[in-house]
Amino acid sequence: MEAGSWIRRMFEEGVVLKQQYGEENVFDLSLGNPITEPPAEFHQELRKLVENPLPGMHRYMENAGYTETRTAVAEYLSTESGINFTKDDIIMTCSAAGALNIVLKTILNQEDEVIIFAPYFPEFINYIENHDGIAKVLPTDEQFIPRLDVLETAIGPRTKAVLINSPNNPSGAVYNDNFLHQLGEILNNKEKEYGKQIFLINDEAYRKLTYDGQESPQVWPYYQQNIVIASYSKDLAIPGERIGYVAAHPDIKQHDELVAGFIHCNRIMGFVNAPALMQHVVRRLQGVTVSTIEYQRKRDFLYDHLTEMGYSMVKPRGTFYLFPKSPLEDDVALVQELREWRVLTVPGQSFGSPGYFRISYCTDDRTLEGSLAGFRKVAQKFNLG
Ligand SMILES: Cc1ncc(COP(=O)(O)O)c(C=O)c1O
Repeated sequence: MEAGSWIRRMFEEGVVLKQQYGEENVFDLSLGNPITEPPAEFHQELRKLVENPLPGMHRYMENAGYTETRTAVAEYLSTESGINFTKDDIIMTCSAAGALNIVLKTILNQEDEVIIFAPYFPEFINYIENHDGIAKVLPTDEQFIPRLDVLETAIGPRTKAVLINSPNNPSGAVYNDNFLHQLGEILNNKEKEYGKQIFLINDEAYRKLTYDGQESPQVWPYYQQNIVIASYSKDLAIPGERIGYVAAHPDIKQHDELVAGFIHCNRIMGFVNAPALMQHVVRRLQGVTVSTIEYQRKRDFLYDHLTEMGYSMVKPRGTFYLFPKSPLEDDVALVQELREWRVLTVPGQSFGSPGYFRISYCTDDRTLEGSLAGFRKVAQKFNLG
């Protein structure tokens, strides 16, 4: 609990500081909680449903979710990927967090290894350990792309899955087609070498949040033992509504048994089914996304100012985070320095990457603009630029 609670701790410190100094004097860049409102289409669908309720729309349903919603997702994925998905490949879930947990519970035996790459979303460790798995953490390169040479030697007889996250929280890296192609080849070879199935799980919670006119490539063409974790939390700015899904490659080995496992785990882990109202809403919002132009503008604003002050960072191609190098070796000390100026960020060590810190910019312009003074004071104190 102690190790993994930095994001929440900074957020909660922000609440206390706001009471002390006033809301307008605290610049909270800690939590990835979008202040953007959902797109107009979301409200239209919600209104339609409230004004013309469907019979039985609040009742229990199949644990996999509504057939109509699963079919709509499958049709959307088929059009996007050129691969023929059906509703039987889709399970509606309590967002990406629920999706990851039902997948890991289904596939993991005690002490099976799941490979992840630092920096990683801290909950990955908790979710893997929830189901008695072991998280094996491997490095990324200086652009935050997983080191495939290290992966190749790290996969062993206990490896059950490789869990990637692109676009990546916290680095903002987006893995390209060439990377996914090579990853697929390594995994295919390792499956043959060990004579066992190795899953590739891609957490695509930020899939639609990419910038500079580039999209996040799909994993489907490169590997068949692939399971995608999807979420509407960031796409539609509705993280409180808890809606997402699991999609399994139609040609994955033991397909029906796996999908039956996911559905069973959705039930027995106590989720039962994804929220009914949201399943009705997202059914008609396939392909609808919040404006990424706004996020890109905010990214550019902070990136330009911080690099001009002397902070060093890779320009992120997706998500709504920046992950600069900490000017102090001790990233916790750096976060405390910024806190003195009421700028709240998260130390890199909570993402498995000490020596960095995370800035979340899915907040209002006033907060971003207000944070600059604190960033500048700290840059001056440590002679950056
Ligand atoms: C990489 C990653 N995966 C999963 C989640 C969980 O998202 P959801 O709200 O869809 O459960 C988050 C949330 O921040 C995330 O950053």
